[in-house]
Amino acid sequence: MTRPVAADGSTLPPPPFEPETTAPTPSPGGTAAGSETRVISVVDLTDTAQLAGGALPPLPAADHALVGLRARSVSAWFGDHKVLDGVSLTIAPGEVTALIGPSGCGKSTFLRILNRMHEMIKGASLAGEVLLGDEDIYDPKRRPSDVRRRIGMVFQRPNPFPAMSIYENVTSGLKLAGISCDDKDSLVEQSLARAGLWQEVKDRLHTPGGALSGGQQQRLCIARSLTVSPDVLLMDEPCSALDPTSTRRVEDTIHELRGEVTIAIVTHNMQQAARVSRACAFFLATHDTPGHIVEAGPTDQIFNAPQDSRTADYVNGRFG
Ligand SMILES: Nc1ncnc2c1ncn2[C@@H]1O[C@H](COP(=O)(O)OP(=O)(O)OP(=O)(O)O)[C@@H](O)[C@H]1O
Ligand SMILES: [Mg+2]
Repeated sequence: MTRPVAADGSTLPPPPFEPETTAPTPSPGGTAAGSETRVISVVDLTDTAQLAGGALPPLPAADHALVGLRARSVSAWFGDHKVLDGVSLTIAPGEVTALIGPSGCGKSTFLRILNRMHEMIKGASLAGEVLLGDEDIYDPKRRPSDVRRRIGMVFQRPNPFPAMSIYENVTSGLKLAGISCDDKDSLVEQSLARAGLWQEVKDRLHTPGGALSGGQQQRLCIARSLTVSPDVLLMDEPCSALDPTSTRRVEDTIHELRGEVTIAIVTHNMQQAARVSRACAFFLATHDTPGHIVEAGPTDQIFNAPQDSRTADYVNGRFG
């Protein structure tokens, strides 16, 4: 279904240029047929058999139902400028999926579309469909705030409330979502433990969050997102402002969350994508082509046996 949505949530008429009306033709395992030809490798990343070749072990059994995300023919515009074209991607439940690609190819825009933050930008519109499990997140009956509770976001720069205590920072997620909790102490401990921060802060819960190191602040933000039990966490370059040690701690946290929460992570760090993800999607935009997925598949395949020469060039650092 094609449904451009305006910044205020209302439905817009299709833009006067190339609206998406059909899903892109799948060409599994397609190869570059020329620089002008868009090649989309549509791999169902929920198919664990397809992911079996990945570097990470199979998912541990979860104690709750895991929910994945499915984007179908997603296009995006800022005003008249089309920045994403026909992006279809399935993000496997409980797995970590990395989104990679050069600067400006639309990774952050795509991530914002996955939790209805794109429509908060003035002049922004989109077409296509995003399903959380079987539910259309753009269903007019659905409140964007509910969607954002189930699909949390962690940003490039850690953004705790600096003057609030560590404890209050964690519980602020609940407050913002309007959720009450009888046993906040346990929830705070649980969330900080899941974010890999409990041991480091358990004796100073009532000191300001702003006094933590950058890496600790980022894990505090992850803990804050976890308090509302999201199905999905979207991470937009969560380590780009961190030193290598803090980066490693956040990656450990991502490993711990694997199998509990569905994660999509944008990263420019190819080693990081290879370390943390089981599936990977390579985005590209050129001067005359909006951002699109060139190839998606098991991380192992994208890094070791890519089917498109542009993917090979990118993951081997030959451009971008
Ligand atoms: N708020 C905005 N208004 C207008 N254009 C925007 C806005 N945000 C992004 N764009 C444009 O959309 C395109 C995609 O940007 P986006 O930030 O999604 O790319 P990206 O892949 O995340 O890049 P990076 O790796 O540098 O973060 C770019 O051409 C960018 O200039
Ligand atoms: Mg970005």
